[in-house]
Amino acid sequence: MASATVCEQDVFTPELLGSIERELERHVDAAQYAPNLQSAVRHALLGGGKRLRPVLAVRCAEAVGGTGSDALAAGAAVEMVHAFSLVHDDLPALDNDLVRRGRPTVHVAFGEAMAILAGDALLALAFQSASSTRQCADAVLRSVASATAQMINGQVLDTLGGHAAELSPLQQLHSIHTQKTGALIRCACTVGAIAGGANKAQLHSITSWGETIGLMFQAVDDLLDVTQSAEHVGKAVGKDQDAGKMTYPAVLGVDATRAEIERLRRAAIDALAAFGTPADSLRLLTEYLAGRTR
Ligand code: IPE
Ligand code: IPE
Ligand code: MG
Ligand code: MG
Ligand code: MG
Repeated sequence: MASATVCEQDVFTPELLGSIERELERHVDAAQYAPNLQSAVRHALLGGGKRLRPVLAVRCAEAVGGTGSDALAAGAAVEMVHAFSLVHDDLPALDNDLVRRGRPTVHVAFGEAMAILAGDALLALAFQSASSTRQCADAVLRSVASATAQMINGQVLDTLGGHAAELSPLQQLHSIHTQKTGALIRCACTVGAIAGGANKAQLHSITSWGETIGLMFQAVDDLLDVTQSAEHVGKAVGKDQDAGKMTYPAVLGVDATRAEIERLRRAAIDALAAFGTPADSLRLLTEYLAGRTR
C-alpha cells in the first residue's frame, strides 16, 4: 500500500513551529556578531525551511515520555548545523546554487566570503545551543559533533568522491546518503530522545527509526529533483543529473526509487513497534516524509 498523503499542517503545527522559531531567534539574538554577519546568519537560519530536524527532536522527546521543551535547544542545534550545511552546499565550489527556500542563497545575497563565515558562525552557535540542553548535555554534544563530522564526510563523497574501490554503485549511494543527510536527521531523533530522558531500549528504537527516515529523506529529495518544479520546491531542480551526482533515480531509476522509498517507509513504521500511542506523531511524520512533495 502506498503511503497516505498527510497534510503538512498536521505534522508541523503552528504552535510547534512558533516555539522552534523563537528558540532559534533567541540564540541568534544573543550572539555578538557584526551587523553584516548578523544579517547573513539570520538569512541562513530564520524565516524559511520546514524545520524538520527540531520537529523530530521535539516529537522524539515526547514519544519517550519527556516534554517537547526539553528538546528545543538540542533540536535547534541540529537545525543550525543543517543551515550551515546548506549555506556551504550552495557555494560555487559545491553545488553552485542561486536559490534556496525561494530566496537568493547566502553567497548570492552577501558574497562568498560572508557565506563561508556565516556557515562557520552557525556551526559554533549550534554547539552553544546543544550545550544548553538541560538533561545529558554531554551526550547531546557528542551526538551533534559526530553527526556533523559524518555530514561533512558525506558531502566530500558526494562532491569529490573518494569511495573504497570495492563498493558497488548502490553501496556508494547508501554511504553518501546516510552520511550527508541521514546523520543529522538521525541525530535530531537521538538528541530529542536523550533530552526527553529515554531509556536504553527507547533510544535504540528511536535511533533506528531516525536512521531509516534519514535515508528515506534523501531518496525523496533525489526524486523531487527529477519530478518537481523549482517554484514548488523553492530551489533549483534537474541539477543532480547535470552535475553527475550519484542519486537514487540515477542509480536505480525513478520506479525503483519509489519502491525503495516504500520499503523504507515500512521499515520505519516497524522500528516503532515497541511504542504505543505516544509515538503516533512519529508514525504521522513517517507517512508525511514518504509522500512529501517539497
Ligand atoms: C534539504 O533539506 C537538504 C537535504 C538534506 C536534502 P530540507 O529539505 O530539510 O531543507 P529545508 O530546511 O526545509 O529548507
Ligand atoms: C544536501 O544534499 C546535503 C547537505 C546539505 C548536507 P543536496 O545537495 O541534494 O541538497 P539540496 O537539494 O541542495 O537541498
Ligand atoms: Mg549537495
Ligand atoms: Mg545541493
Ligand atoms: Mg538535492
